[in-house]
Amino acid sequence: METRAETKTDARITFTLNGESRSVITDPDRPLLDVLREDLHLTGTKYGCGEGECRACTVLLNGESTPSCLTPVGSVNGQPVLTIEGLAHGDKLHPVQEVFLAEGAFQCGYCTAGMILGVASVRQKNPAADEAEYRAELQKHICRCGGYPKYLSVIRRLAEGAQTEKARI
Ligand code: FES
Ligand code: FES
Repeated sequence: METRAETKTDARITFTLNGESRSVITDPDRPLLDVLREDLHLTGTKYGCGEGECRACTVLLNGESTPSCLTPVGSVNGQPVLTIEGLAHGDKLHPVQEVFLAEGAFQCGYCTAGMILGVASVRQKNPAADEAEYRAELQKHICRCGGYPKYLSVIRRLAEGAQTEKARI
């Protein structure tokens, strides 16, 4: 991969990436997506449209589902960013990843990392989220393979699991 030449507008940007402090010296206006993929070699975050429409590039910025293609890297200075590479704990998958796996919710997989992070952000904010809350997030994501029925199975399972938990309390 070609290394980008430094320019006069470059600045040091330091942020927490998947729980670890990382610094890059780069143009603060570059998209976070490019820095993740090209400089930090985290290629789980995908480039789809580059225009904020498909959400293949979703990361969690301060816990919020965020299109990294539209996020200037300078704006994440000092903030926590989570990519798909940081979601599992060692060999232990995140509960949302477990449900995607159990439902076989992938075809080509290009949109999957973004979908998983989007769904994980909903669950993180409200562990008792209902199907409508998950759907509101899913509506932002495009799956070119038309894998929506599987994704709907995932969010129903998560929402039903939360209801069962609530009923037990
Ligand atoms: S690549 Fe970012 S929204 Fe499509
Ligand atoms: S699984 Fe192929 S784009 Fe969604």
